[in-house]
This record gives sequence, structure tokens and C-alpha cells, in this order.
Amino acid sequence: MFMNFRRIRKCQFVQLLMMCFVLSMVMVCWEQLDYHVVSHVKSYSYRYLINSYEFINKSFGISQLEAEGLNNIPYLINHRNKCNGNELLLLFVKSSPENFGRRQAIRATWGNETYSERELRVTIRVVYVLGVHPDIQQRDRMQRMLLKEDQVYRDLVQQDFLDTFHNLTMKLVLQFRWSHAYCSNARFLMSADDDVFVHLPNLVSYLQDVSQRGVRDLWVGHVHRGAPPVRQKSSKYHVPYELYRWPSYPDYTAGAGYVISGDVASKLYQATLSLKASLYIDDVFMGICASAMGLYPQEHVYFSGEGKAPYHPCIYDKMITSHGHKADVRYLWKVATDPQIQNITAGLAGKLYCTAVRVMLLCKPYNFNTYSCKAAFS
Ligand SMILES: *[C@@H]1O[C@H](CO)[C@@H](O)[C@H](O)[C@H]1NC(C)=O
Ligand SMILES: *[C@@H]1O[C@H](CO)[C@@H](O)[C@H](O)[C@H]1NC(C)=O
Ligand SMILES: *[C@@H]1O[C@H](CO)[C@@H](O)[C@H](O)[C@H]1NC(C)=O
Ligand SMILES: *[C@@H]1O[C@H](CO)[C@@H](O)[C@H](O)[C@H]1NC(C)=O
Repeated sequence: MFMNFRRIRKCQFVQLLMMCFVLSMVMVCWEQLDYHVVSHVKSYSYRYLINSYEFINKSFGISQLEAEGLNNIPYLINHRNKCNGNELLLLFVKSSPENFGRRQAIRATWGNETYSERELRVTIRVVYVLGVHPDIQQRDRMQRMLLKEDQVYRDLVQQDFLDTFHNLTMKLVLQFRWSHAYCSNARFLMSADDDVFVHLPNLVSYLQDVSQRGVRDLWVGHVHRGAPPVRQKSSKYHVPYELYRWPSYPDYTAGAGYVISGDVASKLYQATLSLKASLYIDDVFMGICASAMGLYPQEHVYFSGEGKAPYHPCIYDKMITSHGHKADVRYLWKVATDPQIQNITAGLAGKLYCTAVRVMLLCKPYNFNTYSCKAAFS
């Protein structure tokens, strides 16, 4: 009897200890948990309302005259005849005046129009969109360098606004206005940051496939569903209540890299003529424009959000975009477009091997920022 009692006590003691441990873990992590889980649950339930009702549309609506006034920013550098009407893809690279090195790397790799023409047999136009350098001390020197760069490559489009994080929405509006005015026949339009890697051969074969199926209303990328606005003042993405009062954003694709079809581009252009571009997080503003037009994004598991894709041939075989590449764009282009990748991935054995590798690389806990575990099986 006595022994038994002690055994129970001991077992309870262990349980108690475990409970304390779990509770203290929860308490330590509460702030994180609260922010990530609770606010996501809240906003996720709310997104159905946001996505299906019109109050966003109403609250951002302005008259066309007002929108014209806000959006009619003069071009400082422009190329009106860049497109010839046969473009499969018009590719906007969101760059900044000082990022010459990144533009050079892109021109030599995934943004190389000659390569697409010769190797992939499609016409792609690449345009770097910029504002003016925010630092007044450097602006003139920078502007002269940009003009020189543009004389050589003829691929910059610059408008007269300060090129800052909080003016990113202006760049977004620029893209839609520019494509509407000068490249309205492009079948697809892509927007990418200048630190993104795009696997152009994979992208082109995906677009050709989509195009053959005659898909309309295509808006594809890394989708954020029911994301809550960040209310912490210290965050770069902080959005005050006055600017956006609902607990969840409409669905949108990460601005790092997404693709839309030509018909979506023209609908979004129409939206920018009647909505106030006050929300400075550009990809969220795009979500607002899209929801006003009744458009919803679709997920593609090989568009990355914030993160870098793992370096492996089995990933290169499928990847479309990967984010956060500055120094290694040339290296990655070389290895990711190597024809020998086929030898590793082809056949049943290759497929099984690659699925196993991708499960190891992608199905890890805390793998938030790159491709999801789902991607391993596609
Ligand atoms: C672009 O690609 C072509 C054809 O593949 C190549 O000859 C050329 O050197 C490339 N351009 C740059 C800047 O690397
Ligand atoms: C955005 O650009 C405009 C026009 O140059 C400028 O007046 C404004 O201060 C800029 N906004 C920010 C937040 O940099
Ligand atoms: C949003 O508002 C515009 C202009 O008021 C209207 O044309 C459009 O149909 C609205 N969109 C939706 C999804 O209700
Ligand atoms: C890859 O395959 C090609 C043709 O199928 C062959 O010529 C080449 O030698 C192979 N490379 C390797 C490393 O096996």
C-alpha cells in the first residue's frame, strides 16, 4: 500500500514537473505565440470577410481626377518603343539608383534578353524601374551615372519620386501605367526585386504551358492569405489603424516576385485609376487593387517569399524564384541552368531520389521562408 502510494506520488511529481516546464515554455514564448498564432487565427477567419465584401474598395476609392493627380508623375528616363507586341513576358525589376551591380548581374543572367531569344526562343523585355536617389548630396552624381548606364543598355525607366521604401507603391503604380501605355500586348507581366533570382527557363516553360491552356485572370506567386497588418511601431512594415483599420489584408502575393497575365495587368491598371495609393506596402496595395477588381492570387509552390531556396540540383529542376541573392546570382545562374541537371533528375530513379532530397531540404520545422513542404511532392 505504502509503496503504491509512493509510486503514484512519484509519477504525479514527474507530471507536475512536465506541466511546469510546458507552462514556462508557453510563458516564455507567449509574446511570439500570441503574435503569430492568435493574430493569424483572428485574421485568417477575417479574411473571408475582407475578400468577399466591398468595404476596402469603398474606403480606398477616390475619383479618377484625384488618382490622375496622384499618379501622373513625369518620367525622367523612358523607352516608349521597348516592346514590339510579340512579348511573352514583360519583366519589371524593381531596382534603386545605387544598385548598379545588381542590375549588371541580372543583365548577364536571368534578365538577358538575347539569351531568352536564342536559347528559349521567346521574346522577353526587361525594364528596371526606379525613382530618384533620396540623398540630395548624391542625387546629381547618381543621376549622371544612371543616364550613362541607360545609354549603354537602354532599359531603365525612372520617374520623378524619391526612391524609398515608403514610396514602393509608386513603383507598383508606375509598372501598371507603363505597361498599359507602352507594352499592352505582352502576354504576361512579372515584377521582381533586384535581389531575386529567377529561373527563367523554368518560368518560360511554365508560362508557355499556361498560355497554351488559354488561362485568363492569372495571378501567381507566393501567396499570403489573411495576413494581419503589423501594428508594432518598431517594424518596417508597421501600418497604423488610420491607414488600414481591418485585422487582415486581402490575399496577396509576396512582392519579391509574382506573375500576372496581360488581362490582369490591364484590370489592375484600371484599379489604380480609382483607388488611393496611400498604403505604402506595395504588395498589399496590389492585393487591394486586385480585390477591388474581383481577382484572387493562386499559389505556386516554387515562388519563394522572403527566403533563399536550398542549393541543390533537385531544387533547380523546379525552382521559379528565390529571394535574397546579391553576390551569388551569377554562380546560381550557372549551376541552376546547367543541362546536366537533367541527368540527375530524369527517370523514375531520378524522380524518387529528388523527392527524397526535397523532403529532407524542405520538410523541416521552422522552414518558413522558402518553399513549403508541399513543394517536395510536386
Ligand atoms: C547574354 O546571352 C548571350 C547568349 O546566350 C550571350 O552571348 C551574352 O554574352 C549574354 N550577355 C551578357 C551581358 O552576359
Ligand atoms: C515619395 O516621393 C515623393 C516625390 O518625390 C516625396 O515628396 C515623398 O517625400 C516621398 N515619400 C517618402 C516616404 O519617401
Ligand atoms: C469597386 O469599386 C469600383 C468603383 O466604385 C467598382 O467599379 C467595382 O465594381 C467595385 N468592385 C467590387 C469587387 O465591388
Ligand atoms: C548527361 O546526359 C547526356 C546525354 O544524355 C550525356 O551526354 C552526358 O555525358 C551526361 N552527363 C553526365 C555527367 O552523366
